[in-house]
Amino acid sequence: MSTSPGSKLAVVGAGSVGTSLAYAALIRGSASNVALFDVNATKAEAEVLDLAHGTQFAAAAATVTGGGDIAATEGSDVVVITAGAKQAPGQTRLDLAGTNVRILDQLMPQLLTHSPDAVYVLVTNPCDVLTVAAQKISGLPSSRIFSSGTVLDTSRLRWLLARKAGVSLTSVHASMVGEHGDTEFPVWSGATIGPVPIRNWTVDGDRVFTSDYLAETAREVTQAAYKVIAGKGATNYAIGLSGARIVEALLRAENAVLPVSTVLDGQYGITGVALSLPSVVGHGGVRAVLDTPMDDGELASLHHSAEALQQSLATLGI
Ligand code: LAC
Repeated sequence: MSTSPGSKLAVVGAGSVGTSLAYAALIRGSASNVALFDVNATKAEAEVLDLAHGTQFAAAAATVTGGGDIAATEGSDVVVITAGAKQAPGQTRLDLAGTNVRILDQLMPQLLTHSPDAVYVLVTNPCDVLTVAAQKISGLPSSRIFSSGTVLDTSRLRWLLARKAGVSLTSVHASMVGEHGDTEFPVWSGATIGPVPIRNWTVDGDRVFTSDYLAETAREVTQAAYKVIAGKGATNYAIGLSGARIVEALLRAENAVLPVSTVLDGQYGITGVALSLPSVVGHGGVRAVLDTPMDDGELASLHHSAEALQQSLATLGI
């Protein structure tokens, strides 16, 4: 399915995440026009050129533009922000908050000048904290400024479960929710493979998803980024694909259910904190945050996640 003609995606930040997201968007045909901006004009221009050289082989006719002038983002339908400091080995995402909030303070007003009607997606970490900051800076409704949240973590979870169960990834229905970070957790109570509750799934007659296995799987997801960063210095491909997927849901008006992170306004008794819950993503942004059934343990984990994020917001004075 193609995007509407002339749909424009701006990617802010031409580092490994931003360029991977732009690359994924071109290959998937997520947007008709991709504009890449970075304050490092030399880098941005080289990345634009390198991407443009391959557009003949991209999924659909797409243009790639951009460089060091933020005016390149003019008139975008979706703006994805990836600019900022990245996690060093062993560093938590929340450790990046102060530096990246300051970058956002500078970027948001300029981006809004060029694309006042766009939907804004934060990828920069800590994305949940930055979503609250960006909403306050911009004054945009929470539907139009949100973050990729646990879309990536949910993809990691589904990959692990599908591999163990021996089924297609698309047949695994399970979500990571909460902080995109150390306090995220899976909603096992609602997880299924096809119509089968995850705990009832068997391989060769044996139930494979024991409580211990599920706990180990959750830990593997939560630690995944640290493991990749320790080995290659950053994560970029999976977050790039996750971002392109969100862009498609927006530009194709899909009303797709994705666990993006929005500022909550009383859901589960939580207000003023952004965290991930399965949400309907379509034309104009997040159209609904779903009231996902959770058991008592999961509800406690959600509030623990909210408290961790609230503490980070308070420390930063956001
Ligand atoms: C990760 C980064 C995007 O989880 O936070 O890989």
